[in-house]
Amino acid sequence: MLTNLAARDVETLIHPYTHLDKFREAGPLVIERGEGVHVFDTGGKPYLEGMAGLWCTSLGYSNRELVEAAREQMEKLPFQHIFSGRSHDPAIALAEALKEIAPVPISKVTFCSSGSEANDTQVKLAWYMNNALGRPRKKKIIARVKGYHGVTVASASLTGLPANHALFDLPIQNILHTSCPHHYRYAEAGETEEAFSARLAAELEEMILREDPDTVAAFIAEPVMGAGGALVPPKGYFEAIGAVLAKYDVRLIADEVICGFGRLGTMFGSERLGMTPNTISVAKAITSAYMPLGAVMIDEPMYQAMLAGSREVGTFGHGFTYSGHPTTCAVALKTLEIYARDKIVEGVAAKEPHFLRRLAMLEDHPLVGEARGLGLIAGIELVADGATKRQYDPKAMVAAKAVGFCQEEGLILRNLMGDRLAICPPLIISEAEIDELFDKLGRALDRTLEWTRTLPA
Ligand SMILES: Cc1ncc(COP(=O)(O)O)c(C=O)c1O
Repeated sequence: MLTNLAARDVETLIHPYTHLDKFREAGPLVIERGEGVHVFDTGGKPYLEGMAGLWCTSLGYSNRELVEAAREQMEKLPFQHIFSGRSHDPAIALAEALKEIAPVPISKVTFCSSGSEANDTQVKLAWYMNNALGRPRKKKIIARVKGYHGVTVASASLTGLPANHALFDLPIQNILHTSCPHHYRYAEAGETEEAFSARLAAELEEMILREDPDTVAAFIAEPVMGAGGALVPPKGYFEAIGAVLAKYDVRLIADEVICGFGRLGTMFGSERLGMTPNTISVAKAITSAYMPLGAVMIDEPMYQAMLAGSREVGTFGHGFTYSGHPTTCAVALKTLEIYARDKIVEGVAAKEPHFLRRLAMLEDHPLVGEARGLGLIAGIELVADGATKRQYDPKAMVAAKAVGFCQEEGLILRNLMGDRLAICPPLIISEAEIDELFDKLGRALDRTLEWTRTLPA
């Protein structure tokens, strides 16, 4: 029986990433408030938010300083655009702050409101740059199967997941996908992580040569893949890929929308995983998700090409009403200040061993095939047979069932394709709360195992 609020929801809202038909029966989980790493539903039941919302609320749910930063800025100057040379202090200061902490030399920053918009901007800028440089054929962008880069027309095309393409007439032209670097699933028998990385780099090189290097502009990758399964790349992966890109003058776009701002125990995921990007997309934890903000950080060669392009066509024809919105920028500045002052990134590195120890213990569970993480992000693959890695029939929706049991236990996690569970808690989680998370998950997995015994053989 749906509550009044739930019934109103079903009649009014389209929920992203939800089975629209089954949802009409199940109804929503309506969350009312948050405190630290917990959220509470309308009945007052607490849940440990093991996904930091959508990989984003790094500072948890009740940070007064962020609320104050928004309030102060809204009272002073609630809106000011930065079109046609207008500007304001928060946008300037935030661009400076981002340049300062960037993992590679950055020349300029362009703002938007989401990760999808950031990656859409990346595609447009790669095209604009190569047109301005007189290389109109160099337009293809290589993404990866299971990569996640968003849902706008170009960013959904970069995304390598079937549900983002089917019935949407995507991907658009000039977007290619190379293999997913998931060693557990795709390595050959006995293949080391390094050998798997070398094979994937060789495959990328073949793709670039087959397409013609003069037509390939960029390669885009998340340091740790998020929505594709919370997949940590194999050892040596980005070093091997980076060498291929350098050989053929293909630029590297780091999608740091999840890994940026400390998720892997370094300010950017690129630093932890040996990526040397030319441009970087960020969003989510830039404001701890308290305000919608995305950004693209641009290197000097791209900026120079943009200058040349603008000299040719006049106005630079890109940007959003909310590019550099003063309130979002003020909240981002406060977020970055808190990261530095409270040593949030160092805190992730300090908590990582405990998080990974608790994660590794799950590998003894009969349902768990792989449990792998880095920093404070992890992916768990549920399998019918650990020895052969045999999966359950996707129709059984085992991971979705496990997430349902987690919810009953008071833990919010997310199930992803291929019966994977993702864990990505707020960065402020304590060691005791990490224990709470894994204790609840352990109980939910036991209940899931019990339930699988009722499945048809
Ligand atoms: C790595 C990555 N890139 C891009 C996006 C898209 O961001 P948004 O949902 O803000 O458009 C996401 C969202 O989860 C993401 O995880």
